[in-house]
Amino acid sequence: MNKLALYCRIGFEKEVAAEITDRASERGVFGFARVVENSGYVIFECYQPGDADRLAREIPFNRLIFARQMLVVSDLLENLDPQDRISPILAQYKHIAEDINLKQAVELFVETADTNEAKELSTFCRKFTVPLRQALKKQGWLQGKPNAKRGQILHCFFTQPNCCYVGYSYLGNNSTHFMGIPRLKFPADAPSRSTLKLEEAILTFIPRNEESKRLNENMVGVDLGACPGGWTYQLVKRGLFVYAVDHGKMAASLHDTGR
Ligand SMILES: C[S@@+](CC[C@H](N)C(=O)[O-])C[C@H]1O[C@@H](n2cnc3c(N)ncnc32)[C@H](O)[C@@H]1O
Repeated sequence: MNKLALYCRIGFEKEVAAEITDRASERGVFGFARVVENSGYVIFECYQPGDADRLAREIPFNRLIFARQMLVVSDLLENLDPQDRISPILAQYKHIAEDINLKQAVELFVETADTNEAKELSTFCRKFTVPLRQALKKQGWLQGKPNAKRGQILHCFFTQPNCCYVGYSYLGNNSTHFMGIPRLKFPADAPSRSTLKLEEAILTFIPRNEESKRLNENMVGVDLGACPGGWTYQLVKRGLFVYAVDHGKMAASLHDTGR
Protein backbone atom coordinates (compact mmCIF):
# COMPACT_ATOMS: atom_id res chain seq x y z
CA MET A 1 0.00 0.00 0.00
CA ASN A 2 2.27 2.78 -1.20
CA LYS A 3 -0.19 4.74 -3.33
CA LEU A 4 -2.51 7.65 -2.70
CA ALA A 5 -5.53 8.22 -4.91
CA LEU A 6 -6.81 11.76 -5.18
CA TYR A 7 -10.17 12.48 -6.78
CA CYS A 8 -10.71 15.78 -8.53
CA ARG A 9 -12.98 17.72 -10.84
CA ILE A 10 -12.30 16.64 -14.43
CA GLY A 11 -9.53 18.74 -16.02
CA PHE A 12 -7.66 19.48 -12.77
CA GLU A 13 -5.43 16.39 -12.74
CA LYS A 14 -2.18 18.31 -13.37
CA GLU A 15 -2.95 20.75 -10.57
CA VAL A 16 -3.62 17.87 -8.17
CA ALA A 17 -0.39 16.16 -9.22
CA ALA A 18 1.65 19.32 -8.62
CA GLU A 19 -0.05 19.95 -5.29
CA ILE A 20 0.44 16.44 -3.89
CA THR A 21 4.04 16.27 -5.12
CA ASP A 22 4.82 19.53 -3.28
CA ARG A 23 3.00 18.63 -0.06
CA ALA A 24 4.72 15.21 -0.01
CA SER A 25 8.22 16.53 -0.65
CA GLU A 26 7.78 19.11 2.13
CA ARG A 27 7.49 16.08 4.40
CA GLY A 28 10.49 14.31 2.89
CA VAL A 29 8.24 11.87 1.03
CA PHE A 30 9.11 11.26 -2.60
CA GLY A 31 7.22 9.57 -5.37
CA PHE A 32 5.63 10.27 -8.71
CA ALA A 33 2.16 11.22 -9.80
CA ARG A 34 0.49 9.26 -12.59
CA VAL A 35 -1.66 11.70 -14.51
CA VAL A 36 -4.22 10.82 -17.15
CA GLU A 37 -5.82 14.01 -18.40
CA ASN A 38 -9.58 14.29 -17.90
CA SER A 39 -9.67 11.07 -15.85
CA GLY A 40 -10.97 12.79 -12.69
CA TYR A 41 -8.25 11.35 -10.44
CA VAL A 42 -4.50 11.11 -9.86
CA ILE A 43 -2.47 8.25 -8.38
CA PHE A 44 0.58 9.33 -6.38
CA GLU A 45 2.98 6.43 -5.99
CA CYS A 46 5.40 6.74 -3.07
CA TYR A 47 8.84 5.18 -3.27
CA GLN A 48 8.80 3.96 0.36
CA PRO A 49 6.19 1.54 1.73
CA GLY A 50 4.13 3.14 4.50
CA ASP A 51 4.57 6.64 3.13
CA ALA A 52 1.12 6.79 1.52
CA ASP A 53 -0.49 6.09 4.89
CA ARG A 54 1.71 8.75 6.47
CA LEU A 55 0.65 11.32 3.85
CA ALA A 56 -3.03 10.42 4.32
CA ARG A 57 -2.66 11.19 8.03
CA GLU A 58 -0.29 14.17 7.86
CA ILE A 59 -1.25 16.29 4.84
CA PRO A 60 -4.12 18.48 6.06
CA PHE A 61 -6.82 17.48 3.61
CA ASN A 62 -8.71 20.75 3.96
CA ARG A 63 -5.61 22.64 2.77
CA LEU A 64 -5.54 20.82 -0.57
CA ILE A 65 -7.12 23.10 -3.14
CA PHE A 66 -7.86 20.75 -6.02
CA ALA A 67 -8.37 17.30 -4.43
CA ARG A 68 -11.89 16.24 -3.53
CA GLN A 69 -10.78 13.11 -1.71
CA MET A 70 -7.49 11.59 -0.53
CA LEU A 71 -7.21 7.86 0.13
CA VAL A 72 -4.55 5.19 0.50
CA VAL A 73 -4.99 2.52 -2.16
CA SER A 74 -3.75 -0.91 -3.16
CA ASP A 75 -2.33 -1.77 -6.55
CA LEU A 76 -5.04 -1.79 -9.20
CA LEU A 77 -6.95 -5.08 -9.05
CA GLU A 78 -7.45 -6.10 -12.66
CA ASN A 79 -9.42 -8.79 -14.47
CA LEU A 80 -11.84 -9.24 -11.59
CA ASP A 81 -14.12 -12.22 -12.15
CA PRO A 82 -17.70 -10.91 -12.59
CA GLN A 83 -18.88 -14.01 -10.67
CA ASP A 84 -16.68 -13.20 -7.66
CA ARG A 85 -15.26 -9.73 -7.37
CA ILE A 86 -15.53 -9.85 -3.60
CA SER A 87 -12.80 -12.41 -2.76
CA PRO A 88 -9.82 -10.45 -4.17
CA ILE A 89 -11.18 -7.25 -2.60
CA LEU A 90 -11.51 -8.98 0.79
CA ALA A 91 -7.98 -10.33 0.40
CA GLN A 92 -6.72 -6.74 -0.02
CA TYR A 93 -8.61 -5.58 3.06
CA LYS A 94 -7.14 -8.50 5.06
CA HIS A 95 -3.75 -7.21 4.07
CA ILE A 96 -4.71 -3.67 5.14
CA ALA A 97 -6.15 -5.00 8.43
CA GLU A 98 -2.67 -6.20 9.43
CA ASP A 99 -1.78 -2.52 10.03
CA ILE A 100 -5.08 -0.69 10.42
CA ASN A 101 -7.98 -1.40 12.78
CA LEU A 102 -10.78 -1.73 10.23
CA LYS A 103 -13.28 -2.42 13.02
CA GLN A 104 -13.37 1.36 13.48
CA ALA A 105 -14.32 1.97 9.84
CA VAL A 106 -17.65 3.76 9.66
CA GLU A 107 -18.68 3.57 6.02
CA LEU A 108 -18.04 1.90 2.68
CA PHE A 109 -18.08 3.94 -0.53
CA VAL A 110 -18.01 2.05 -3.84
CA GLU A 111 -17.05 4.85 -6.20
CA THR A 112 -16.00 5.87 -9.70
CA ALA A 113 -14.29 8.98 -11.02
CA ASP A 114 -16.44 12.01 -11.78
CA THR A 115 -16.39 11.65 -15.59
CA ASN A 116 -19.25 10.85 -17.95
CA GLU A 117 -17.73 7.51 -18.98
CA ALA A 118 -17.01 6.45 -15.39
CA LYS A 119 -20.50 7.47 -14.30
CA GLU A 120 -21.88 4.66 -16.45
CA LEU A 121 -20.51 2.40 -13.74
CA SER A 122 -22.43 4.09 -10.96
CA THR A 123 -25.47 1.78 -11.07
CA PHE A 124 -23.16 -1.20 -10.74
CA CYS A 125 -21.33 0.49 -7.86
CA ARG A 126 -24.57 1.14 -6.00
CA LYS A 127 -25.68 -2.49 -6.34
CA PHE A 128 -22.26 -3.89 -5.47
CA THR A 129 -22.10 -1.86 -2.25
CA VAL A 130 -24.68 -4.09 -0.53
CA PRO A 131 -22.95 -7.49 -0.82
CA LEU A 132 -19.49 -5.98 -0.29
CA ARG A 133 -20.62 -4.21 2.88
CA GLN A 134 -22.07 -7.47 4.19
CA ALA A 135 -18.85 -9.34 3.42
CA LEU A 136 -16.76 -6.70 5.21
CA LYS A 137 -19.03 -6.72 8.25
CA LYS A 138 -18.80 -10.51 8.39
CA GLN A 139 -15.05 -10.07 8.94
CA GLY A 140 -15.82 -7.88 11.98
CA TRP A 141 -14.94 -4.63 10.16
CA LEU A 142 -17.10 -1.56 9.51
CA GLN A 143 -18.43 -1.47 13.08
CA GLY A 144 -17.73 2.26 13.71
CA LYS A 145 -20.60 4.60 14.60
CA PRO A 146 -21.64 6.98 11.77
CA ASN A 147 -20.85 10.08 13.89
CA ALA A 148 -17.48 8.75 15.14
CA LYS A 149 -14.56 11.18 15.09
CA ARG A 150 -11.87 8.51 14.57
CA GLY A 151 -11.70 5.61 12.17
CA GLN A 152 -11.80 5.29 8.42
CA ILE A 153 -14.04 5.33 5.41
CA LEU A 154 -13.39 2.30 3.19
CA HIS A 155 -13.30 2.99 -0.55
CA CYS A 156 -13.55 0.64 -3.47
CA PHE A 157 -12.70 2.79 -6.48
CA PHE A 158 -13.76 1.25 -9.80
CA THR A 159 -12.08 2.47 -12.99
CA GLN A 160 -13.82 -0.25 -15.08
CA PRO A 161 -16.31 -2.99 -14.15
CA ASN A 162 -13.46 -5.45 -13.69
CA CYS A 163 -10.80 -3.10 -12.27
CA CYS A 164 -10.68 -1.34 -8.93
CA TYR A 165 -8.44 0.13 -6.30
CA VAL A 166 -9.14 -0.89 -2.71
CA GLY A 167 -8.38 1.58 0.03
CA TYR A 168 -9.29 3.81 2.93
CA SER A 169 -9.32 7.44 4.02
CA TYR A 170 -9.00 8.78 7.55
CA LEU A 171 -11.97 10.42 9.23
CA GLY A 172 -11.15 13.99 10.16
CA ASN A 173 -8.73 14.22 7.23
CA ASN A 174 -10.95 13.34 4.29
CA SER A 175 -14.20 14.30 2.66
CA THR A 176 -17.17 12.49 4.17
CA HIS A 177 -19.10 12.95 0.90
CA PHE A 178 -19.54 10.10 -1.58
CA MET A 179 -16.92 10.61 -4.37
CA GLY A 180 -15.81 13.66 -2.37
CA ILE A 181 -18.65 15.70 -3.85
CA PRO A 182 -21.14 17.53 -1.66
CA ARG A 183 -24.69 16.84 -2.92
CA LEU A 184 -25.94 20.31 -3.73
CA LYS A 185 -29.42 21.12 -4.85
CA PHE A 186 -29.59 23.50 -7.79
CA PRO A 187 -31.41 26.60 -6.51
CA ALA A 188 -34.48 27.12 -8.71
CA ASP A 189 -33.88 30.89 -8.90
CA ALA A 190 -30.15 30.71 -9.81
CA PRO A 191 -29.31 31.94 -13.33
CA SER A 192 -26.90 29.13 -14.29
CA ARG A 193 -25.73 25.67 -13.18
CA SER A 194 -22.22 27.03 -12.65
CA THR A 195 -23.58 28.51 -9.42
CA LEU A 196 -22.93 25.05 -7.91
CA LYS A 197 -19.18 25.34 -8.58
CA LEU A 198 -18.87 28.41 -6.40
CA GLU A 199 -21.21 26.94 -3.79
CA GLU A 200 -19.05 23.79 -3.62
CA ALA A 201 -15.95 25.97 -3.20
CA ILE A 202 -17.55 28.04 -0.42
CA LEU A 203 -18.72 24.91 1.42
CA THR A 204 -15.31 23.28 0.99
CA PHE A 205 -13.07 26.15 2.02
CA ILE A 206 -15.10 28.09 4.59
CA PRO A 207 -16.07 26.38 7.85
CA ARG A 208 -19.85 26.74 8.44
CA ASN A 209 -19.41 28.74 11.65
CA GLU A 210 -17.19 31.29 9.86
CA GLU A 211 -19.34 31.84 6.81
CA SER A 212 -21.18 34.95 8.01
CA LYS A 213 -17.87 36.50 9.13
CA ARG A 214 -16.13 35.77 5.83
CA LEU A 215 -19.01 36.64 3.46
CA ASN A 216 -21.53 39.25 4.53
CA GLU A 217 -23.50 42.42 3.67
CA ASN A 218 -20.63 44.73 4.64
CA MET A 219 -18.54 43.33 1.80
CA VAL A 220 -18.18 44.09 -1.87
CA GLY A 221 -17.43 41.49 -4.54
CA VAL A 222 -16.20 41.81 -8.12
CA ASP A 223 -17.25 39.14 -10.63
CA LEU A 224 -15.29 39.48 -13.89
CA GLY A 225 -17.03 37.72 -16.80
CA ALA A 226 -20.14 37.33 -14.66
CA CYS A 227 -22.94 36.66 -17.15
CA PRO A 228 -25.53 35.21 -16.65
CA GLY A 229 -24.75 35.47 -12.95
CA GLY A 230 -24.41 32.04 -11.28
CA TRP A 231 -21.45 33.13 -9.16
CA THR A 232 -22.81 36.61 -8.49
CA TYR A 233 -25.97 34.85 -7.26
CA GLN A 234 -23.97 33.01 -4.55
CA LEU A 235 -22.40 36.26 -3.33
CA VAL A 236 -25.63 38.27 -3.43
CA LYS A 237 -27.37 35.44 -1.57
CA ARG A 238 -24.83 35.93 1.22
CA GLY A 239 -25.49 39.69 1.29
CA LEU A 240 -22.52 41.05 -0.69
CA PHE A 241 -22.84 44.00 -3.05
CA VAL A 242 -21.36 42.77 -6.35
CA TYR A 243 -19.85 44.62 -9.30
CA ALA A 244 -20.68 42.14 -12.07
CA VAL A 245 -18.74 42.87 -15.26
CA ASP A 246 -19.60 41.38 -18.64
CA HIS A 247 -20.59 42.48 -22.13
CA GLY A 248 -23.45 39.95 -21.92
CA LYS A 249 -26.65 40.42 -19.95
CA MET A 250 -27.03 39.52 -16.30
CA ALA A 251 -30.20 37.72 -15.16
CA ALA A 252 -32.90 40.28 -14.37
CA SER A 253 -33.59 38.57 -11.03
CA LEU A 254 -30.14 39.64 -9.83
CA HIS A 255 -30.73 43.29 -10.77
CA ASP A 256 -34.00 43.09 -8.80
CA THR A 257 -32.09 42.32 -5.59
CA GLY A 258 -30.51 45.81 -5.67
CA ARG A 259 -27.20 44.19 -4.71
C1 LIG B 1 -18.36 30.93 -18.45
S1 LIG B 1 -19.10 32.47 -18.50
C2 LIG B 1 -19.22 32.88 -16.82
C3 LIG B 1 -20.34 32.20 -16.08
C4 LIG B 1 -20.60 32.82 -14.74
N1 LIG B 1 -19.47 32.66 -13.82
C5 LIG B 1 -21.84 32.24 -14.08
O1 LIG B 1 -21.70 31.66 -13.00
O2 LIG B 1 -22.95 32.38 -14.62
C6 LIG B 1 -17.81 33.55 -19.02
C7 LIG B 1 -18.27 34.96 -19.29
O3 LIG B 1 -17.12 35.75 -19.46
C8 LIG B 1 -17.48 36.84 -20.31
N2 LIG B 1 -16.28 37.48 -20.86
C9 LIG B 1 -15.23 36.87 -21.47
N3 LIG B 1 -14.32 37.80 -21.81
C10 LIG B 1 -14.79 39.00 -21.41
C11 LIG B 1 -14.30 40.33 -21.49
N4 LIG B 1 -13.13 40.60 -22.05
N5 LIG B 1 -15.02 41.30 -20.92
C12 LIG B 1 -16.20 41.03 -20.33
N6 LIG B 1 -16.73 39.80 -20.24
C13 LIG B 1 -16.03 38.79 -20.78
C14 LIG B 1 -18.33 36.18 -21.37
O4 LIG B 1 -19.20 37.12 -21.99
C15 LIG B 1 -19.11 35.13 -20.53
O5 LIG B 1 -20.40 35.62 -20.19
